[in-house]
Amino acid sequence: MTGSLCEFGSFKGFSTAALSEACFRLGMTMDVFDSFEGLPESDSQLYRKGEFMGSYEEVRANVREFGNLAPVRFHRGFFSETVGLYDRSQIACLWMDVDLEISAVDAIKLLPRLDPRSGVFSDECEPEDFVAGRIIEAPDPDSVISPICNAFRADGRLIKGCFISGHTGFFRDEKHGIPVLMPEPLLKLKDALL
Ligand SMILES: C[S@@+](CC[C@H](N)C(=O)[O-])C[C@H]1O[C@@H](n2cnc3c(N)ncnc32)[C@H](O)[C@@H]1O
Repeated sequence: MTGSLCEFGSFKGFSTAALSEACFRLGMTMDVFDSFEGLPESDSQLYRKGEFMGSYEEVRANVREFGNLAPVRFHRGFFSETVGLYDRSQIACLWMDVDLEISAVDAIKLLPRLDPRSGVFSDECEPEDFVAGRIIEAPDPDSVISPICNAFRADGRLIKGCFISGHTGFFRDEKHGIPVLMPEPLLKLKDALL
């Protein structure tokens, strides 16, 4: 798989630190998008403007201490301003934790550059969003699923999705996308190795 891992939504840098270390070990580049001012204004019933704010300096320091800065490029600003300026042509993975429908609409604009064998990992997903092989779409200011489904359709990709763990879902092209490894075998492997 060629291209960068693009992460949307870093907050204080927890996920960014973990993913940056993985990218470093895999020889991949990583692009991190965040306002570093928290969430934008929205119609959300759950979140307010400015929530989940981690400053650029704070996130950099956390990634330096707990992850690896070497593969990381930061794209500072609201996605509506930064996504259109993104200059890499190939994306190996999209990773989103953006809370809001309007933010997902902007982030998922990069889908056409995603390797068709890969997929989109997103927070804000629950097991009940995936029923009998179907993705349940319920457009709402606090749901990111519809924008993801719409972007797949607009790009001519047949979408397939599954729940993974926590609040994370995975979306891929049904024809070309490689299914994700579910966490249970990995946890068993970890237990066996310890
Ligand atoms: C829930 S937090 C991410 C949590 C993070 N992944 C972690 O491991 O802790 C959501 C992040 O998305 C960012 N965000 C959401 N919508 C955005 C937008 N439209 N433009 C830029 N940043 C946005 C917020 O600034 C915040 O840092």
